[in-house]
Amino acid sequence: MNNKKVAGRMYDCWLRYELCDEKVLDSYEDYFKYIVVKSNDRIISNAVNELKKALSNIKDVDIEIIENIPKSNCIFIGTLDDFKAEGLKVDLERELKSEGFALKVVKKDNHNVLSIIGGSEKGVLYGVFHLIRSIFGGKSLKDALCIENPQNDFRILNHWDNMDGSIERGYAGKSIFFKDNRIVQDLSRIKDYARLLASIAVNGVVINNVNVHQQETKLITDEFLPDVKRIADVFRGYGIKTYLSINFASPVEIGGLSTADPLDDEVKNWWKDVASKIYSYIPDFGGFLVKADSEFRPGPFTYGRNHADGANMLAEALKPYGGIVIWRTFVYNCMVDWRDRSTDRAKAAYDNFKPLDGKFMDNVVLQIKNGPMDFQIREPITPLFGAMEKTNVFMEFQITQEYTGQQKHLCYLVPLWKEALDFDTFAKGEGSFVKKVVNGSLFGAKYGGIVAVANVGDSESWTGHPLAQSNLYGFGRLSWNPDLSSREIAEEWVRLTFGCDEDVLKTVVPMLLESREIYEEYTSPLGIGWMVNPGHHYGPNVDGYEYSHWGTYHYADFRGIGVDRTVATGTGYTAQYKEPVAKMYENIDTCPDELLLFFHHVPYDHKLKSGKTVIQHIYDTHFEGVERVEKMRESWMKLNGKIDDEIFKAVLERLDIQVVDAKEWRDVVNTYFYRKTGIKDEYGRKIYE
Ligand code: GCU
Repeated sequence: MNNKKVAGRMYDCWLRYELCDEKVLDSYEDYFKYIVVKSNDRIISNAVNELKKALSNIKDVDIEIIENIPKSNCIFIGTLDDFKAEGLKVDLERELKSEGFALKVVKKDNHNVLSIIGGSEKGVLYGVFHLIRSIFGGKSLKDALCIENPQNDFRILNHWDNMDGSIERGYAGKSIFFKDNRIVQDLSRIKDYARLLASIAVNGVVINNVNVHQQETKLITDEFLPDVKRIADVFRGYGIKTYLSINFASPVEIGGLSTADPLDDEVKNWWKDVASKIYSYIPDFGGFLVKADSEFRPGPFTYGRNHADGANMLAEALKPYGGIVIWRTFVYNCMVDWRDRSTDRAKAAYDNFKPLDGKFMDNVVLQIKNGPMDFQIREPITPLFGAMEKTNVFMEFQITQEYTGQQKHLCYLVPLWKEALDFDTFAKGEGSFVKKVVNGSLFGAKYGGIVAVANVGDSESWTGHPLAQSNLYGFGRLSWNPDLSSREIAEEWVRLTFGCDEDVLKTVVPMLLESREIYEEYTSPLGIGWMVNPGHHYGPNVDGYEYSHWGTYHYADFRGIGVDRTVATGTGYTAQYKEPVAKMYENIDTCPDELLLFFHHVPYDHKLKSGKTVIQHIYDTHFEGVERVEKMRESWMKLNGKIDDEIFKAVLERLDIQVVDAKEWRDVVNTYFYRKTGIKDEYGRKIYE
């Protein structure tokens, strides 16, 4: 099935182009005769074709593409310059950023021109998709008119795809980029992917895994660059830059050098040659993504150098061409002794990178995971976001559901991401939100952006679980505008994917909005995380990581549970936050319930703010979580016949799995704590002995 377009609605995702609400057509129909376009730029042509394709799905609409404004109403598509060249007047210079767009109705002679005006070709593309989204999502023209700019300049997806076609932490089939250690020949699926991404304004894709193995190390050589170029050519037409993950030890592994020391001149020159070669194939190549000195990947530590030495050496090579180095801060000691309660993995990113603030070149960006551990269902925000005042940073989210149900369980992640972006670091006083750090505005950084690990493979629905498409969609929309609400995004997605049937909307939107909370309820409690089976990370195993070297512990014994990360008596992690955040977490009375066990070790009869004891909370949430999954399944059943059959069945199949798995989680976790504590459930529900 790899790379073949599979017919059907699952494949089309939110680009189905079926009218949601015919009534809104009245406000647009007047314009659906002509599209005027002056430019023959590829991005603009792709945008125009997309609009034509979309509108051709509307009955009786037969739109003509012409070059000059006719003597009737029409749609005009172009950049601000194209617009002005037509003698059309609009004052947008100061308002429109390069990737921004405006949708306006402008008068020409006695006619109305519905104008999509981009700050650049990419802006035009995003403007066109905005219009499509509005028409098919049931918005009237009046409500669609706007001026929009992206709040984040970089909106990038990381694919953890390997060249053998497998995907690390992939739950939706095989890679759409690679097969049998080569880049795929037929790029039609990649083109459809580019359309999907352009429609949500994603402007960068890293095509290979951050763990760069032997074969992928060669992607930067003449053997594979012609093929990488083919992908980059497709993406370019949709405003997307191509990036590669690189192996820091490449000079040794494929360059024939005896060292990869970043301060060695031969090494520096080797990378400069690599950069020059890459740009000869791909003139707009985005840059390198680097996982170094992390989880057994090579890095500058081998040579007694630090991360700034490593990143800057690569940045220097890319600088002449405008490329960037995206250096990950997911660096920690993964060989700790579980007996040693003083080391704390949560502290690692800050400890490693804070001392280097200000030492990175201006085309280096640090990519920081939202939480200090690793994409758990609940974690605090990484304190590093409040600490890098002189360094570019990107946010890294995980769309692929490694720890959040692996695309078998429903888990709409937008609420989790919003919590992270809306978190106040207090780095420059109240209102120093993470979203302002990552868009560059808080500290005046040169670059800012939001990145996420993709959840896409060659499955017919792209994402395995059809409803997991909402997470890909949500990532794009949120990185464009972090102020959109989880509900707005969910509603938009449901309308575009399933239409405007009120029953569908009223069922699916709440399912999405509640799903994260429900998942949290039946899995690991109160921010502690990690109670999964080691390795693949699916299903409950409370002690799965308790005696391992990964630094991921809950320290449950018969008296209590949780990690003491306070300054007073614990690892001192709370001190990495700015005040008053540090104090809030340090003090058990002000630490929010949902993160209690992340920050404190407490007895099971400790009273939460909710008034419940910790143990009763564990029992209650686990029973309730299962009930709520069962309710979700019941609501879904009511949509039988209202939703495309194929999607209906695919979702149902997964909800059935979720019900069974949630029960397993409930019983394993409840029994574990009952056995540890001997404390009975207040309500006498069934807990296995
Ligand atoms: C997690 C994940 C790995 C991945 C790593 C990373 O640990 O389990 O598969 O490589 O994150 O983000 O680098």
